[in-house]
Amino acid sequence: MAIGYQQENRIFSLDTAHTSYQMKVDDFGFLLHLYYGGRVYGNMDYLLTCYDRGFSGNPSDVGNDRTYSMDVLPQEYPVMGIGDFRNSALVIRNADGSDCCDLRYVGHETKKEKYRLPGLPAVYADSGEAETLEIYLEDKTGGVRVTLLYGVLEEADIITRSAVIENRGGKGVTVEKAASACLDFLTGRYDLLSFYGRHTMERNLQREEIRHGTYAIGSRRGASSHQYNPAVILADRNTTEEAGSCYGLVFVYSGNFLCEAERDQFDQTRVLMGLQSDLFHYPLEPGEKLVVPETILCYSDRGLGTLSARFHHCIGAHLCRGKYRDASRPVLLNSWEAAYFSFDGSTILKLAESAADLGIDMIVMDDGWFGKREDDNSGLGDWHVNENKLGCSLKELTEKVNKAGVKFGIWIEPEMVSEDSELYRKHPDWVLRIPGREPVRCRNQLVLDFSRTDVRDYIFGQICSILNQGNIAYVKWDMNRSIVDVYSMENCQGKVTYDYMLGVYDFLEKLLAGYPDVLIEGCSGGGGRFDAGMLYYTPQIWCSDNTDALDRLRIQYGTSFFYPASTVGSHVSAVPNHQTGRSVSLHTRGVVAMAGAFGYELDPAKLTEDEKEAVREQIRQYKSWEALIRKGRYYRLTDPFAEPCAAWMFVSEEKDRALVSVVMLEMHGNMTVSYVRMRGLDPQAVYRDSKSGRCYYGADLMEAGLPMPVELKEYPAYQIGLVRQA
Ligand code: GLA
Repeated sequence: MAIGYQQENRIFSLDTAHTSYQMKVDDFGFLLHLYYGGRVYGNMDYLLTCYDRGFSGNPSDVGNDRTYSMDVLPQEYPVMGIGDFRNSALVIRNADGSDCCDLRYVGHETKKEKYRLPGLPAVYADSGEAETLEIYLEDKTGGVRVTLLYGVLEEADIITRSAVIENRGGKGVTVEKAASACLDFLTGRYDLLSFYGRHTMERNLQREEIRHGTYAIGSRRGASSHQYNPAVILADRNTTEEAGSCYGLVFVYSGNFLCEAERDQFDQTRVLMGLQSDLFHYPLEPGEKLVVPETILCYSDRGLGTLSARFHHCIGAHLCRGKYRDASRPVLLNSWEAAYFSFDGSTILKLAESAADLGIDMIVMDDGWFGKREDDNSGLGDWHVNENKLGCSLKELTEKVNKAGVKFGIWIEPEMVSEDSELYRKHPDWVLRIPGREPVRCRNQLVLDFSRTDVRDYIFGQICSILNQGNIAYVKWDMNRSIVDVYSMENCQGKVTYDYMLGVYDFLEKLLAGYPDVLIEGCSGGGGRFDAGMLYYTPQIWCSDNTDALDRLRIQYGTSFFYPASTVGSHVSAVPNHQTGRSVSLHTRGVVAMAGAFGYELDPAKLTEDEKEAVREQIRQYKSWEALIRKGRYYRLTDPFAEPCAAWMFVSEEKDRALVSVVMLEMHGNMTVSYVRMRGLDPQAVYRDSKSGRCYYGADLMEAGLPMPVELKEYPAYQIGLVRQA
């Protein structure tokens, strides 16, 4: 049984295959956190200590005992206003203007399946794979009830947390801040690994010691953002890829978030993950509820690699859904870097014909096919096909593309509107905009108020009418600006950022229900909304608008800490690269793009015959490894920020096949040799390098590694396919 409760000392334990999590209801009804880490067997309440700590308040329940303070004790869901001066998981503003919520245990329930969250993405599991614990806490004075939700996926070593805030009192309250997970550590010194970036340079790893004070990352941009990914790792200071303790927190949400890490006065550490408190004042009238998006927790005592593998499994098998969760993904050719806005129907058809010639499965018609959209200053919101530009109807175009032997996909950006559009001229009140102020523009577009059902319904109807026009197998869902003017003409203001996100999810859910066979790829200027929330709806996301192979190595490295390769949209583009001006060989570009859902982003007509043949071979190679890349265990073999080469590998579950990829990042005179040590192979087994035919023991490749050739070229790449010998 994954969830246990001892009535006599009111201790809850959540056990997975390799981890344990414990908490306790104390004599006063406070829910204290006891332990999270490697598997333990006893009651961990002996870890709690109480001393008289000056200036740390004591609840009135304890009488004259000055040793009991919420400012020092580890808690499951710390609240503002009861004497804990550290960061709070929950801040409630009561009707009288006070910020206080004294939560005490009132009951609990366990269930044999994983909870679901209404309107929000969440980890799911088949019956028998997961259990749920619900703990009810209440503030008697104010009437707020909090239900803490714990999902335990025993075999997967995953614990999920969420919270439902409910106003059971007689007066309105406002939720000013709400997290779904808090981890309190009594002892230990930790690094926080977070993933910062910018447009076209997402998810760079930053590793910093958590010191006294608060270190916070988050987003106020309306989307999870290019700038900080909503996922962090807390690691022992000496934890590496292969050894040491670490904890991961992944927020299953695509909007504004806040993650705070704090070392307190007694060197205890607290980490919180939840909704961003800025631009958020969520009113709850009596009887109303707020559901806080889920955080996925995972612990590994075997380093960062194992932590990532557990997240990859959880996200790939328990969060991504639909037909494409387990199906091989089409190799696609996207028109964006091939033609930008300058195309017509015959351009698309030519791309489709050359795609067919090269062995590509699908052509995607990117931005520019609708309304008045000759550039990115107009047309968004007018979701009707520009037949003048295409020279034919969408139906005709898709038929021709299909006839050429490839599938057809299309780009949309449903959340946006251009001021220069029919839609905006007709419904200027449909955008997020503060009355009496000029809106802030970004890519010359405004954001539709997706917190409103009427606005969503209208756009949904438009998008469906497009999808109904032809045989459309794929949709790229883009979102190309941050939200600034957080004001709705219809909705209550403090709710807008949250309700907007729920509106997007609602739209996506309906789209999936209506078009279950369509593959939807997420995108927000590349990886500006690359998060676990979106992956519930879109099993792959365009990883970055930066297609430069060398930059991509680093972007994909950062992405790999949480998200499996199957979710990473990754394409070969033309050189010189459009984002960096750098030229890298076609082979190297192919090797880098094969670390994800593979495709092309170039005009094949500009390739030489030799290059075309090389592309055909690349696709054959990719297809032969596709299942391994999508389902195999992924290992980071080097750190491309610190080492002279980037190396990673995929190993099949049975350990009978492996694909090792290496890209040399540095070139110097009289070069030293790089040895790449492999991981995850069967040490006793003999593996054959499918290209050279040479055989090696797994142990030899893992212990001593393989020397990479020294070649007089820039950024050479090597792909080593290993097949276990009988
Ligand atoms: C975003 C996407 C690109 C492309 C353009 C089209 O930047 O990330 O891939 O679709 O929009 O405008």
